[in-house]
Amino acid sequence: MVTRRLLTASLAVFFVGMCLQSGGFGAESGESGGWKASGELVERLSKRSSETNYDEQKVPAYTLPDPLVGSDGSRVTDGRMWRQKRRGEILELFRGHMYGRSPVGRPKDMTFDVFDLDRKALDGAAVRKQVTVSFTGKKDGPGMDILIYLPAPPKEPVATFVLLNFGGNHAIHPDTAIRLAKSWMRQRGAGVVDNRATEKSRGRDRSSYPVEEILKRGYGLATIYYGDIDPDFHDGFKNGVHAAFDKPVGGGRAPDAWGSIAAWAWGLSRAVDYFESDGDIDHKRIAVLGHSRLGKTALWAGAEDERFAIVISNNSGCGGAALSRRRFGETVERINRSFPHWFCENFKKYNGREDKLPIDQHMLVALMAPRPVYVASADGDLWADPAGEFLACKHAESVYRLLGAEGLGQGEMPPLDQPVRTGKIGYHVRSGGHALTAYDWRQYMGFADMHFSSRR
Ligand code: GCU
Repeated sequence: MVTRRLLTASLAVFFVGMCLQSGGFGAESGESGGWKASGELVERLSKRSSETNYDEQKVPAYTLPDPLVGSDGSRVTDGRMWRQKRRGEILELFRGHMYGRSPVGRPKDMTFDVFDLDRKALDGAAVRKQVTVSFTGKKDGPGMDILIYLPAPPKEPVATFVLLNFGGNHAIHPDTAIRLAKSWMRQRGAGVVDNRATEKSRGRDRSSYPVEEILKRGYGLATIYYGDIDPDFHDGFKNGVHAAFDKPVGGGRAPDAWGSIAAWAWGLSRAVDYFESDGDIDHKRIAVLGHSRLGKTALWAGAEDERFAIVISNNSGCGGAALSRRRFGETVERINRSFPHWFCENFKKYNGREDKLPIDQHMLVALMAPRPVYVASADGDLWADPAGEFLACKHAESVYRLLGAEGLGQGEMPPLDQPVRTGKIGYHVRSGGHALTAYDWRQYMGFADMHFSSRR
């Protein structure tokens, strides 16, 4: 009798779950109020590329998978089920179908070499450290340099933002003591010659790294050149950390072997390994941040490694915070064509077939729960689909609520330059284009003030 009743009850839960899966999250086009893309911009961008959709009205109807319905159709009804079953299941889906599978944990032979320590850097405002991480313990093997600035004099272990950078550590600040990046670099203007950084690029990207302001607010900043971990071009995974850690299957790479985004995220976790050994850094208060492709990376790092206490995505777009099923701006097919090395091989199966994906990016945001997560878009950055980024936050909320946390607390897209950050999910759409700006940093520091003060 009891068994029967139980069976009936679980069938009912299963049925409700299936209904939600097939109907509950459908057709979102036109759903958002508040911010809307400028009509003039939509027209201009649409003319430039007929292949790309920038028109909200042309977003296809779609159904999102429900983060709270398991692969077997059962509904996740409490925090324990989420932690013990569904979270791991979603993580595995992202590994198998999208970002690929990374080596697990800390490499056993990895070493840290603190080659620079100045307790009176930046005219006495900072402690500067530079650390070489040798992933295999070999000096001629793959490795990365971490540049760290902490407020001086350090009074207690400092909450720290960590982010990968595009132009080398030396490009974030004119401080001449920063070691020039040596790894392969994309041609980014006159400061890069033959794919190598030159002195000319020192401090070139400083507008995206308000170091002095960050220090004044009491935070540390740690940054790493992403090309140290894996050079950002498709060479069949012969360089960077792939070459050192790949385990070929049947003479080739497995279709779910890690791509470059997963490799960069793995590098961020190795930085946390270092932070755990540095008494000046509070490794329980690490916020991981990233812009654009490195915003996708920050999200994946936060999903894979729960040591990141706050996760921040700046204009990450397709393959980051934007819902793939909307096919607005950059699409799965387009990203796989332009950057065939970013994701695992399996992801290419979803080119033009987003509806077949067992996941969508709201589930990536949900993997941060109940930790604070912040997603930011830019008004002019339609390629990254601001509305799709907002909707991913919105549809991650059910998981936060299940875990007893307030999520976004906002059903509609907020107006321009009006950040939403009352709960554990923060969001803003700022004026201007695709960039990491001082305005963005201010919102992130405000968000960290809210959430880190209670963690001390
Ligand atoms: C391209 C790419 C985006 C990416 C961006 C960047 O625009 O299509 O997916 O986010 O580069 O990283 O700058």
